[in-house]
Amino acid sequence: MRIRTYHELTEPDRSGLATQIVAQRRRVAQRLAGVARLIAVMSGKGGVGKSYVTAHAARALARVGRRVGVLDADLNGPTAARLLGARDGRLAVREDGVEPAVGADGVRVVSMDQLLADGHPLAFRGPEAESFVWRGAAEAAALREFVADVAWGALDVLFVDLPPGLARFQELAELLPAPPAVLTVTIPTAESGDAVRRALRAALACGATPLGIVENMVGGAFVGEAGDTLAREFGTPLLARVPWHPTPDVWQQLAETIWNAV
Ligand SMILES: Nc1ncnc2c1ncn2[C@@H]1O[C@H](COP(=O)(O)OP(=O)(O)OP(=O)(O)O)[C@@H](O)[C@H]1O
Ligand SMILES: [Mg+2]
Repeated sequence: MRIRTYHELTEPDRSGLATQIVAQRRRVAQRLAGVARLIAVMSGKGGVGKSYVTAHAARALARVGRRVGVLDADLNGPTAARLLGARDGRLAVREDGVEPAVGADGVRVVSMDQLLADGHPLAFRGPEAESFVWRGAAEAAALREFVADVAWGALDVLFVDLPPGLARFQELAELLPAPPAVLTVTIPTAESGDAVRRALRAALACGATPLGIVENMVGGAFVGEAGDTLAREFGTPLLARVPWHPTPDVWQQLAETIWNAV
């Protein structure tokens, strides 16, 4: 592999990469033309219930007649398909793109889980496949393809379920025709509040609009008031306090709140 040095950077880029990315962004904009609202679900912290909240909020919106999709942007730990009962749903590849599987309550879902063999991690082919930097670039490219290839059709809301951390959010934001609205999930603890604060600041720096905070796993072992604190600091609403094993009315209320907020 030949690596260009900074002396050569003024030469025209012969890989055509820039042109490819521009074409892919154009395709993403066309794909998302029928999507009325895109909501990225993020948190600086892992395991706080992003995927759980996304799946249940999506189902509750679908139950009141909204057309809803979930894109699982967690390529390494995909869970959305299982949460929506669509893990065995095959993704049909048609001439005009990948058709999402239909999950519980009619929520359309696309997840790496539907493409990977049972229990196998996402792996890339190539001489540098094990390199950290190469893998990051390959994952960003996989996300671009994912977003550019899915034929969602007309949707009222598309949720993008993100992995923990910030990198995938930034890759997503760069791809989209407009910065997304961000639904932030935290648990009550101060540590979660710190992690979420950092992530949310960075997301806002990318131009994202904060939709609100969901405080999850309330009333159990986790003590604190991260939900209220973050809502106050960012001047954004605390959309819901979700207890352990919530009843359906909690999701219905959250769905209504989200619908009114976007
Ligand atoms: N309110 C809740 N009541 C009961 N179980 C919950 C609740 N919220 C989350 N869980 C469970 O906690 C676990 C972690 O949730 P989930 O996978 O949604 O977190 P996540 O933030 O998406 O994690 P990751 O950072 O790995 O993507 C799951 O087993 C989920 O079913
Ligand atoms: Mg998750």
